[in-house]
Amino acid sequence: MRIKIRTIKEDHGLVGQEITVKGWVRTIRAQKNFTFIEMNDGSTLSNLQIIVDASVPEYAQTTPLLATGASISIVGKVVESPGGKQHVEIQASQLEIIGTCDPESYPLQKKRHSFEFLRSIAHLRPRTNTMGAVMRVRNALAFATHRFFQSRGFCYIHTPIITLSDCEGGGKMFQVGTNEKIPFFGKEAYLTVSGQLNGEIYACALSDIYTFGPTFRAENSHTSRHLAEFWMIEPEMAFADLKDDMDLAENYLKTIFLEVFNSCGEDMEFFDQFVKPGTIKRLENVIKEPFQRLSYSEAITILHNCGKPFEFPITWGCDLQSEHERYLCEEHFKKPVIVYDYPASIKAFYMRANEDGKTVAAMDVLVPEVGEIIGGSQREERLDVLVEKMDRMGLSREHYWWYVELRKYGSVPHAGFGAGFERLVQFVTGMENIRDVIPFPRYPGHADF
Ligand code: 4AD
Repeated sequence: MRIKIRTIKEDHGLVGQEITVKGWVRTIRAQKNFTFIEMNDGSTLSNLQIIVDASVPEYAQTTPLLATGASISIVGKVVESPGGKQHVEIQASQLEIIGTCDPESYPLQKKRHSFEFLRSIAHLRPRTNTMGAVMRVRNALAFATHRFFQSRGFCYIHTPIITLSDCEGGGKMFQVGTNEKIPFFGKEAYLTVSGQLNGEIYACALSDIYTFGPTFRAENSHTSRHLAEFWMIEPEMAFADLKDDMDLAENYLKTIFLEVFNSCGEDMEFFDQFVKPGTIKRLENVIKEPFQRLSYSEAITILHNCGKPFEFPITWGCDLQSEHERYLCEEHFKKPVIVYDYPASIKAFYMRANEDGKTVAAMDVLVPEVGEIIGGSQREERLDVLVEKMDRMGLSREHYWWYVELRKYGSVPHAGFGAGFERLVQFVTGMENIRDVIPFPRYPGHADF
């Protein structure tokens, strides 16, 4: 049976045993009577060193076929490594080339490639150190997310991808059609921008639920923090208010970040050393320090008085731009910030109206480098207040009849949030561009692979 390289490195009981290992060649160094192979199977960051000497059957015929990128199978003994670099290496007794690789045309050469170039070879980029590490961290964050909610009794609900409703009211939706003239669903249908409205239905029955699925936004954004297809985690809690929502968000981030530290230590050190120095320190601070919480009005006062020339001027009622969000968490508080009670006029229809008549019980979690990572709110549970607001905003009561009815039959205060999964991965890894933390990024003009 094939043993993963990660296991070979971690399980000291394997020393002295004969094992089979399979993977792709990273580098080869041929000496006179033996060859060093550095191979990797993607289970871990650091390569495994193989020593193949001339006693291996058909040494002379097979070794010339070894090349960077070729896939190989090795049978050999795990031995303690005499060099200081790695603990163990493999003394090969058999070598098989599974798939050859033409070194002349193989696009992944030893030199460093730009992330832009790697995006153009998205079928091969997972074989690089950086993309391998990103995907292992992404996997660990997904696993930690499920563990976090499952261990607290949240039920995982699969909300629909095809929908007739625009949750966020931005109108930036992809239409779903067929090549027939008649609409397949009887009405215009779209790809979901958020599972929230459906999630609310289930929270109002199962109390605590979460969704974790793909969401789609047809925004013409070319920034390093926007994708047209991204994944979102959306918990929803019944019998909960905005304070409960903020507590859950803070607890969620701290818990999953800590788990990634524990399960992806080697990858995290790689990011800290080669991708963004200070990444580990930044994450440790987030885990240790309580987040700063302040109202939107307080945030506006700070931004107003800070004397920094912003591109977008600050007035009460304006939406916070990325430059404002980053100032708050990177320069003013130097830690994650939760801004709550935003003006009603800049937020979605479903957010609960506050007593002041001007603001809604909304909150955004802002983190250094990335900016907004979570957006959430307490939902309007009062039937009269909701329908009055929908009428005012020109939203059809008939279209959202089921959403309205939830407020008629056993309505309860409830709250939830949406965490952008790629932004979480970006924050943890320190990766500059969101396009490099998802296997196959979709953004304006790009849906290849
Ligand atoms: O703030 P948003 O739009 O909130 C919602 O969709 C709510 N319905 C969530 C809820 O309350 N259940 O989006 C939530 C998060 C943002 O904070 C951001 O992290 C991420 O989703 N996000 C994006 N990530 C990548 N590319 C985009 N175009 C994104 N738009 C939002």
